[in-house]
Amino acid sequence: MKVSPSILTCDFARLADEIAFIEQTGADMLHLDVMDGVFVPNLSFGPPVIKRLRPLTGMIFDVHLMMKYPDRLIDAFSQAGADIINIHLECDSPLDKTLEHIRSLGKIAGLTLKPSTPAQSVFPYIDKVGLILVMTVEPGFGGQSFMQDMMPKVTDIRNEIKRRGSSVMLQVDGGINSDTAVIAAKAGADTAVVGNAMFTSENPTALTRQIQAL
Ligand code: DX5
Ligand code: ZN
Repeated sequence: MKVSPSILTCDFARLADEIAFIEQTGADMLHLDVMDGVFVPNLSFGPPVIKRLRPLTGMIFDVHLMMKYPDRLIDAFSQAGADIINIHLECDSPLDKTLEHIRSLGKIAGLTLKPSTPAQSVFPYIDKVGLILVMTVEPGFGGQSFMQDMMPKVTDIRNEIKRRGSSVMLQVDGGINSDTAVIAAKAGADTAVVGNAMFTSENPTALTRQIQAL
């Protein structure tokens, strides 16, 4: 699996050091959780912070927009240096138009499903995105427990991806550690967001390699 560490539970007073720490684990990309306080009951950071992080690392910026109206800030996230711009299927922006906008900027478009959203709702978009994210916690906070009951959804989406011969990434996000990553990989996920586990692990490089080997 590819590993995309989330900085949501890092020490925000030492952001540059935390990014350097993640980079030296050999992680594949960097997951940036953007929360608007409306779509989810929490606030994090936005384009100005991402713009300042951009020169610090060559890692792929995997930007997860937990926003009610992501279309309003697509240009800003693109200019700030996002590589993957991932919106929620349940947002209030027009999905086709917003995904097309992201692609027109030369970025990878992503689509995320909250736990209550069924697998079938993403099927019409499989050929329009480069990444599908199945949330394995309710979005809003780091450090929550992995929802194993999301695994049939991951498998249903994986089967549909195979049926179409698509190469879209299938990511899981929430409660991923060395044990739950095994379960998610078996279910068909190929990319794992790792937040809390990365910052509490005694050996984050070994953890990254272990998940990459799945
Ligand atoms: C939750 C975020 C996740 C989360 C992952 O709303 O989208 O990216 O921070 O963190 P852990 O691994 O701690 O669940
Ligand atoms: Zn996330």
